[in-house]
Amino acid sequence: MPGCVAVGMQWGDEGKGRFVDVLAKEHSMVVRYQGGHNAGHTLVVDGETFALQLVPSGVLYETVTPVIGNGVVVDPIVLLAEIDRLERAGVSCARLQLAANAHLVLSYHQVLDALSEELKGEAAIGTTLRGIGPAYADKAARDGVRVQDLLDRDVFADRVAHALRQKNVMLRGLDRAPIDVDEIVERYAGEVAERLGPFVADTVATVNEALEVGQSVLFEGAQATFLDVDHGTYPYVTSSNPLAGAASVGAGVGPRHLQRVIGIAKAYVTRVGAGPFVTELQGELADHLVEVGQEFGTNTGRRRRVGWFDAVQARQAVRLSSLTEMAVAKVDILADLDVVRICTAYELDGARLRYPPARTDQLERARPVWVDLPGWSSTTSGLDANALTYLRRIQDEVGVPVTFVGVGPSRGDEVRFDDGVPA
Ligand code: IMP
Repeated sequence: MPGCVAVGMQWGDEGKGRFVDVLAKEHSMVVRYQGGHNAGHTLVVDGETFALQLVPSGVLYETVTPVIGNGVVVDPIVLLAEIDRLERAGVSCARLQLAANAHLVLSYHQVLDALSEELKGEAAIGTTLRGIGPAYADKAARDGVRVQDLLDRDVFADRVAHALRQKNVMLRGLDRAPIDVDEIVERYAGEVAERLGPFVADTVATVNEALEVGQSVLFEGAQATFLDVDHGTYPYVTSSNPLAGAASVGAGVGPRHLQRVIGIAKAYVTRVGAGPFVTELQGELADHLVEVGQEFGTNTGRRRRVGWFDAVQARQAVRLSSLTEMAVAKVDILADLDVVRICTAYELDGARLRYPPARTDQLERARPVWVDLPGWSSTTSGLDANALTYLRRIQDEVGVPVTFVGVGPSRGDEVRFDDGVPA
């Protein structure tokens, strides 16, 4: 059975969690491969809302082994709090496996994230302030502290002392309080380490062994294509690679296992934080979509920027991750508008582009080319003819079949088209 990757096609918050939830029950394992608790998946099951940040969505099924892969950065306190919340709601986390070589997000990463944003001033990224960027920076600089280090107090103290040496020079230089190694060791090396220990595993072995015996594995991306540090709207991106190819590195499996790749898009586009956004809407319509779609960050509560569906961006997402199909979420939110728009191309210096330009300055100058389609009514249950026309147009423009459509927030509020939206 092949590995399947689910990846966001826009700037995150596409509603990946609910589709991953649907897909999870058809797999025996769900693996997170990048990002940290900057992600926030909301699942509504039997009227109960689960907000997941680190634990893979598959945790809700007893038949699924949830795995946090090596490519994820893990705040151990956040992870334990999430496990406690799930257990209190009757969801067992006993099957959860945490990669021994995943890197930790520690409290000083959050201090450094805030400081970095402060010093950037007007050029601030608008990060989630969760410490994600500094944790990945430490990993690349070989100053990271890994999950396995937490299992031995002396090793942990050594790694933290090493990591803080340069940082404290910088903090003192900026007249900021240095970070105390002992305080960090006290905070994490006791109960936190003890409680995390049983979850720590050789997840490379777990995932490969599952694939080798023919089990199906779902790789769950966090954030999304245009927040990818290599291919997103740099520098307004996250510090990891959400693209499907990164599932290979972030879980430790070869790319030939990644056979089915599902891109998840919203029926319109949202983004939090700064950066170019070609189809962005302002004014009343933007306010309407924010309100009806409840477009506020799961984690930070920030209002999201909104715009029309961008097929240029979606085509690029297909290229970047070799998408084999796509899901379109929140089609119900566009109901009751007279006209719905899709951006089918960009106009730049008199030329029409089907793919985004490579240079950011060009992307900032690109203007959308629209196609207008008739809206649909919220009183029709399911998808009426106009909604189907809209989805078919997206499918034709983007070039991969639309196989899932989200028409409401709860488990079960989705329509499946195994061969794509019919002509
Ligand atoms: P960071 O990942 O916290 O460093 O934030 C970098 C950028 O990615 C900011 O624009 C964030 O708003 C955005 N971002 C990070 N995680 C998510 C997510 O899960 N959904 C949407 N945007 C995100």
